[in-house]
Amino acid sequence: MTVLRFCRSSGRATPSRRRDKIETPRIQQTRQESHLKSAGSCPNNRGQLYDPRSNGRPRLAKDRSLIKILKRTLRPSNENWGRVCDPTAAMSNKRRTFEMKSFLKRIEAKLWTIRLGEPPCYTSFRATVTDKLRRNYTGKAASIFFENRGRIIHKWLHYLPIYDSLLGCYRQADVRVLEIGVSKGGSLDMWRKFLGDRATIFGVDNNPECAPLDTQTGPVRIGSQDDVDFLLSVVKEMGGLDIVLDDGSHIACHQRASFETLWPLISEGGLYIVEDTHTAYWPQFEGGLRRRGTIIEYFKNKVDHMHKHYQAGGSNTPEAMTDIESVQFFDSIIAIRKRKQFPRYTVMTGETDGEKQTNAVMLETPRCS
Ligand SMILES: C[S@@+](CC[C@H](N)C(=O)[O-])C[C@H]1O[C@@H](n2cnc3c(N)ncnc32)[C@H](O)[C@@H]1O
Repeated sequence: MTVLRFCRSSGRATPSRRRDKIETPRIQQTRQESHLKSAGSCPNNRGQLYDPRSNGRPRLAKDRSLIKILKRTLRPSNENWGRVCDPTAAMSNKRRTFEMKSFLKRIEAKLWTIRLGEPPCYTSFRATVTDKLRRNYTGKAASIFFENRGRIIHKWLHYLPIYDSLLGCYRQADVRVLEIGVSKGGSLDMWRKFLGDRATIFGVDNNPECAPLDTQTGPVRIGSQDDVDFLLSVVKEMGGLDIVLDDGSHIACHQRASFETLWPLISEGGLYIVEDTHTAYWPQFEGGLRRRGTIIEYFKNKVDHMHKHYQAGGSNTPEAMTDIESVQFFDSIIAIRKRKQFPRYTVMTGETDGEKQTNAVMLETPRCS
């Protein structure tokens, strides 16, 4: 039997088979069972929840086991949840909104975990420092890190040479550095040793237990990295900003909030570093491969923005230029350098057959017909 079905993409009515309408419920169930069985071959460790025909997306409404998992995930909040859903329960609107938001966040994180599978176990990256391991890492940052006998510093080893290449040019200079995420204070000590006495180094952390470090490592202020007024007050106290190291919560919305507040305050030639960007793939940090809003996706978009003047509708004028000179992606580190950009010119120099080529040719923005 053929019926006309409205096709969304073309807006036209197209003939299609009404197969699903004429199947009995029993047949539908058999088909569902068979696809759940065949999904067992999915490489994902939650493969049984996948329908291979749904392109990796869980089929929520039909999948009872998925609903069971979600219920189990959300159980800790059930007690509160009853009150949140009850409009007569005494609870402030702010509290209710907060509970609802965190509930939705937990569901979203769970769905991303189901979709992508569990990330590798964090402990599988842990190592004990042996001479053999240590020999792979040379440079100033590595020597300070390995010789540290003071407050604890927690770093991925492959960051050490990256620090040398990114921050080496600021050593012994009058730079103002803000580190987000102080923890035990060891990294503030490390930056002091690395950058020298002329640097102004501030740390911020939302954990009040870091407050006593204020008198030991240099200025430490307590507040959250997504609190605009707090960040503005710290930068005011610092007298300006040249470098930011974001090693705070690693949660996407916090990382974006800090960047959006601090980037306009960074001086010309300054640098913004975001660490541990692998969390952009971990659902508990609002991450997921190609998930909208992760810090990796955010800076991929900035790369497009940097090339705006080459795109349709772009213009090669000083006003249209971004102040991002470069976005560098390392494994788990993103570094963004700030420098005023000027209109682009394409120029030929040199001499061929006596003809000199020294004319500047302004780039013409291609026009879309
Ligand atoms: C990975 S540790 C920092 C490690 C330190 N930079 C080092 O290298 O040893 C992360 C720190 O960020 C802090 N933190 C978490 N959420 C934060 C937030 N929203 N604002 C500021 N700091 C935060 C935590 O309290 C923790 O001390």
